[in-house]
Amino acid sequence: QLNAVIFDLDGVITDTAEYHFIAWKQLAEQLGITFDRAFNEQLKGVSRMESLERILALGGQADRYTTAEKEALAHKKNEHYKQLIARMTPNDLLPGMLDLLRELKRNHIKIGLASASKNAFTVIERLGIREYFDTIVDAAKVQNSKPHPEIFLTAAEQLRVAPSTCVGVEDAQAGVAAIKAANMFAIGVGDKEALKEADYIVKTTADLTYDAIVHAFHRE
Ligand code: BG6
Ligand code: MG
Repeated sequence: QLNAVIFDLDGVITDTAEYHFIAWKQLAEQLGITFDRAFNEQLKGVSRMESLERILALGGQADRYTTAEKEALAHKKNEHYKQLIARMTPNDLLPGMLDLLRELKRNHIKIGLASASKNAFTVIERLGIREYFDTIVDAAKVQNSKPHPEIFLTAAEQLRVAPSTCVGVEDAQAGVAAIKAANMFAIGVGDKEALKEADYIVKTTADLTYDAIVHAFHRE
């Protein structure tokens, strides 16, 4: 029985994954580090500081900066990111997402958010979809980052549902791994190869309908 759907935010509900990419890429270039979209797959779902560490390691600069300097770099990226999300509106919901949230509500399926982002509330507010979520678990509420299952398990606990009755939706490798570790049904949105650990994969959110989710979940 399907009791809840727990969504990742960035890259699933809205295309902020692209904004994270743009902001990191600009910071990296200022440090003389270039990275491509393939490398970016490894940053998706990963916390701000861990993302910075991975970028510095890619550029062979892991030991170049003090903790304070790293915090300043992460802050700089976040200021750029905040500029990018400041102009978001409900029009920035990815295709089909509003219909999906409505259908889930209509069918009494609980809705959770499991986002590694400290900007999650701002983004949800700008999209105008706060009312749909029965719980929101963000970076501030958990100790362990994805691929650790904590964020998804915390959401299920707050929704008072068993993990095995939940579907998790993710665009990140680390996120799909977190869902599987939480013993939930994992739906990946995006590249088949990158998300191959998922139980069911859709290319875009346009394919992520209520019926598709229910069918996939019950086929297992
Ligand atoms: C995740 C994104 O949702 O949040 C990552 O996929 C991002 O790309 C992480 O680094 C942390 O976000 P923020 O807004 O706290 O820097
Ligand atoms: Mg994501």
